Formats: sequence, structure tokens, C-alpha cells
Amino acid sequence: ARPRVWVSQPLFGDIVARLGEHFELDAATDVTIWSPDAIADRLHDASGALVTLNERIGAGEIASATALRAVANVGVGYDNLDVAALHARGIVATNTPDVLTETTADMAFALLMAAARRVTEGERWLREGRWTQWSFDTLLGHDVHGSTLGILGMGRIGQGVARRGALGFGMRVLYHNRSRLPERIESNSRAAWVDLDTLLRAADHLVLVLPYSSATRHLIDAAALAKMKPTATLTNIARGGLVDEDALADALSHGRLAAAALDVFEGEPSVNPRLLALRNVVLTPHVGSASLATRRAMASLAVDNLIAALGHGPRAGDPPTPIGAPAAGGIPAK
Ligand code: GLV
Ligand code: GLV
Repeated sequence: ARPRVWVSQPLFGDIVARLGEHFELDAATDVTIWSPDAIADRLHDASGALVTLNERIGAGEIASATALRAVANVGVGYDNLDVAALHARGIVATNTPDVLTETTADMAFALLMAAARRVTEGERWLREGRWTQWSFDTLLGHDVHGSTLGILGMGRIGQGVARRGALGFGMRVLYHNRSRLPERIESNSRAAWVDLDTLLRAADHLVLVLPYSSATRHLIDAAALAKMKPTATLTNIARGGLVDEDALADALSHGRLAAAALDVFEGEPSVNPRLLALRNVVLTPHVGSASLATRRAMASLAVDNLIAALGHGPRAGDPPTPIGAPAAGGIPAK
């Protein structure tokens, strides 16, 4: 029998079909919420799996998956994978960096600007029929151009955000990362390294673009928020768990932070009701990389990764994007 491959969610049919040239396909046709037991069941006699951030794959899920040799994540973040547990079993794990960098950096800017200039707040206000007469001081926000952009986590996406800020909006760009980037990359990104404390204090607009792990959980907590300017905005396009959402709601409701824009949430898809109730927060449903072209490129790369990792195709045995050490975008525990 041909090796079996599990695809956990519907992706693009024409792209997923390429797996069918090499493997027996077990592909979800509807959006599915998989329990850990159901995941273990699907992996039980699979050689490979193509999964999304919805599916957590850890020691329990792979315990009886004796044929499993590769797990391809559709996404750059892979906190849903227990990479150590996979590696301990000799299972290759891959992700989809690079193809989503510019699209996600675009979205960071969309969110940052929406928060700074109160775009979605204004739209809601208008739709509620509250616009009765143009007035001089309606919805005054904070400037983006010429301000100081702070980037926490300077991987590929962080560098894309930096370039947009420096070249497009004349921003002064500061970043913090666990390691300083080589000078060539710093100068391409027009960004200067600072320590975390300085970044928090200096940023007019802070963007989070770093990997999530137990070491970065609630990195932005009450103490970190207290260091930020009351006129600043916070944009999160990485993972919700980086931010203590209750502390953020406190800061936003007490005027200690001007606004926030969040594409990711700690308990997504449910959103902290305190954030839902606030007018000065922009909320989007984890769509940072969601352009048609980029989602197709991500699906395609994940399929290539799986085919290569399972020893087929032109890159057999040489998956283009294996996950090894955490990506360069990280910062150390606080
Ligand atoms: C999505 O959040 C991703 O990590 O690609
Ligand atoms: C994440 O690792 C990125 O590409 O920025």
C-alpha cells in the first residue's frame, strides 16, 4: 500500500491533490475541530501529516503513530508542534517561512495605522449613525509618519515591517531581538538594536513579531505596558499569548496606552470580553498572511515540504524548510 498522508483542514484542492500523486490521501474536506484523541487516531497509521496552527501535535498525539516520519505545518509559527517530541522520534517538522513575509508585514502596517488613526473606531461610529456634523476634533489620533517604530522580534517579518516604516513613512526604527542582527541586515532594515526596556519606553508604535513559547508568554504584561508612552499603540500579529490581555485591557481603559491592534488572541477563536468592549482596540481574526496568493504559496510550500521529507519529488530527503533551532526572530526569557 502507498504511504498514507493526513491533511487536517481543507486547503486548496488543486494543491493538496499533488500529494495524491505519491500518497494515499486522508484529507479533511470541511473545517474540523480536532480533539487530541481524534488527531492521534488520524496519525495512527499515517506516514506524514499536513497540519495548521489549530492542531496541536505533541508526544500524546504521536504516541501510537509508528509510521509517522514528517509533519508539515502550514504557517511560519509552529508553537502548535512539540518539536522536541517529534525530533526525539526522528520525525521531521517543517514550516512555511519566507512566502508569507511581505503579506504579513503589510497586515502589521494595516493594523498599526488603523489603531493610530482610529480607522475601525471611526467606521463603527459612522455606521452607528453618530456622525451628525463634521467637527474639527472628531477622532483625533496619533501620527505614524515621522514617529518611532518599535519592533519586538526581528525575523524576516520584523525586517519587512522595519523597511515599510523607514522607507514608506520616514519612521525612526528601533528593534529588540535576542541577538543583534548583522550590520548588513540592520542597515537594509534601517533599524537600530536597543534593549527591551528602551524599546518599550521609546516606541510610539510597538509591533510584536516574535515566536511564542513558554519563555515569551505574557512578555507584554502590566510592568511592560507601564513603561510604554500613554500615546503609544501596540500591534500584535504574532501570537496572542505574548500579551497579558487583562493587563492590556486595564492599560487601554485607563488611558495608559492610546490603542491596540490585535490579530491574535490567547484563547482564540474566543476573544477576551474586556477587549471586545473597548473602543480603542482593532480586532481581526488571525488573518496576517491571508492574501489569496500567499495562502496558495503557503499550502504549496507545505505540500513540497511533505513530499520531500517523505523521500519523493525533486528535493527528496532535503526538505527546504526543516524546523531546527527556533527561528531568528526570538528573544530570550524576560
Ligand atoms: C500564522 O499565524 C503563521 O504562523 O503562519
Ligand atoms: C518568523 O520567523 C519570521 O519569518 O519573521
